[in-house]
Amino acid sequence: MGDFTRRQFLGSAVLVTAGLPLLARSSRATDSKIEILLNEPIGTINPNIYGHFVEHLGAVVYDGIWVGENSKIPNYFGIRKDLVDALKRIKAPVIRYPGGCFADSYDWRDGIGDQAKRPRRTNFWQDINPKEVPANSTSRFEPNTFGTNEFIKFCQLTGAEPYLAANLRSLPAQAFNEWVEYCNSPAGTTTYAEMRAKGNLGSEKPFNVSFWGIGNETWGCGGNLTPDEYAQEFRRFTAAVATYGVPLKFIGAGAESYDMNWTRGFFSKMKEKGESIFSKLYGWGIHHYSWNVSGGRTTDWVKGKGDALKFDREQYFELLNQGNDLDDLIKKHWAIMGEYDTTHRAKIIVDEWGSWHAPGTELKPEHLLGQQNTMRDALLASLSLDIFNRHADKVMMANIAQLVNCLQSLFLADGDKFLLTPTYYVFEMFASHIGAESVRTVFSSPSIQYERNSKPASFWGLQGSASRNGKELTLTVTNPHPTEMRSTEILLDKAKSRAIHATVLFAKDGQSHNTFENPSNVRPSEKPIKADGSIVFNFSPTSVTKLSITLV
Ligand code: AHR
Repeated sequence: MGDFTRRQFLGSAVLVTAGLPLLARSSRATDSKIEILLNEPIGTINPNIYGHFVEHLGAVVYDGIWVGENSKIPNYFGIRKDLVDALKRIKAPVIRYPGGCFADSYDWRDGIGDQAKRPRRTNFWQDINPKEVPANSTSRFEPNTFGTNEFIKFCQLTGAEPYLAANLRSLPAQAFNEWVEYCNSPAGTTTYAEMRAKGNLGSEKPFNVSFWGIGNETWGCGGNLTPDEYAQEFRRFTAAVATYGVPLKFIGAGAESYDMNWTRGFFSKMKEKGESIFSKLYGWGIHHYSWNVSGGRTTDWVKGKGDALKFDREQYFELLNQGNDLDDLIKKHWAIMGEYDTTHRAKIIVDEWGSWHAPGTELKPEHLLGQQNTMRDALLASLSLDIFNRHADKVMMANIAQLVNCLQSLFLADGDKFLLTPTYYVFEMFASHIGAESVRTVFSSPSIQYERNSKPASFWGLQGSASRNGKELTLTVTNPHPTEMRSTEILLDKAKSRAIHATVLFAKDGQSHNTFENPSNVRPSEKPIKADGSIVFNFSPTSVTKLSITLV
């Protein structure tokens, strides 16, 4: 970000005292305004919007999550302790597993029973970086040490609900039914219930898994199907699944980003069986990644990516811009869904989202699709979560890709080294939105100018979301401007504030990140502030802020 005069900003940093903004009465000169319309509720923010995604890819499972019971790395039943503890702190609500494209070639029966007897299989992802990855790596050959029981134990330890993605491409519907039976049939009923109890981390008690993905990216790695073909497969897979008293929530493999044809094709074909068929579809799983594009948009998923750490002003804003598309594409997919499912039984689930940078910053070659995570990624996380909050009436779940050591991770881990990324702190700050009532906000702020392909382009100045839980109001705000602070008047409708607590994630620049040597380089600062009446708040440049406001 060479053209940014960071020094200029730091020169005036006394005003914001190490990133903590000043608060004053509304008589101060301001350049921005946030109106919180407390009496205009949007909907309850589903906790699952703050969900996660775990795939057998690179070092997500092995090393990231699973270290083994005999490891010197602190663990619960073989699962990395620091990871579990950190997930509990952010109230992780749901985890999707085992993929991703891996799910489309995975036989769940390989990952149950005695760990020592489980088969070793070729991992679908092995070719992504074949030259440098050691041949005996778990990134290339899946040992199946971590399977269904281990994943459920991970969920139980963290308090998250499991969301299992079934293999629709290479296994029959029968295998899916049997996985449901393995997980949910009560003790003493089926052979699969007995097998569940006997395997490693065996459990007589059923797992009661509600969320089931019916395939993954069935337009691509999940079968190269047409929307018509997939609608038929979806209907067949979900036709008569034994429930064992568990409310099964089937999630359809939705579109990639702006592929409206996929949504229209699927919904129109489904409707040929009558509109009641949509009662089978709990959620429509859209995937949307933000590449670090250079020179404007491209659909080329290899050449279109840029570096996680080295980016210029254009790439900085283009990545954020691409994340910001979520707002528009949620509205567009929702409108098409409503043309067929007129009462909107099915809601939107964004079950893969986040930044996807070019290879080069992964911790090790076997960390396939591993990447560093900067303050820019944190801004992408905050603006995305704010979008989901603002669409609380439409979005039921979202799963950032992926949990650890892969794409926009909350954590990086390598042996006994473990760190929280800037993105983790955004999830920590936003946890107070969970289960609260999203209320409408109006942001007015000068837009930011930059150049895309040498032509003028602009990005919003401030954005965010607000939610209310009784007298507690949470306002989260992203200021993407690399150098300018935004002095902002915050209007609370007719309400008054009694106390305000500010949490600010602020970094020297968009490239700032955490390393094992300096794991606390980017972390939030806290400041309780007494306030009443109207509020003026200075939002630091390149920052994510949470204001926890207690109303009178
Ligand atoms: O998250 C990485 C991959 O991205 C997933 O396996 C796939 O579903 C998507 O294309």
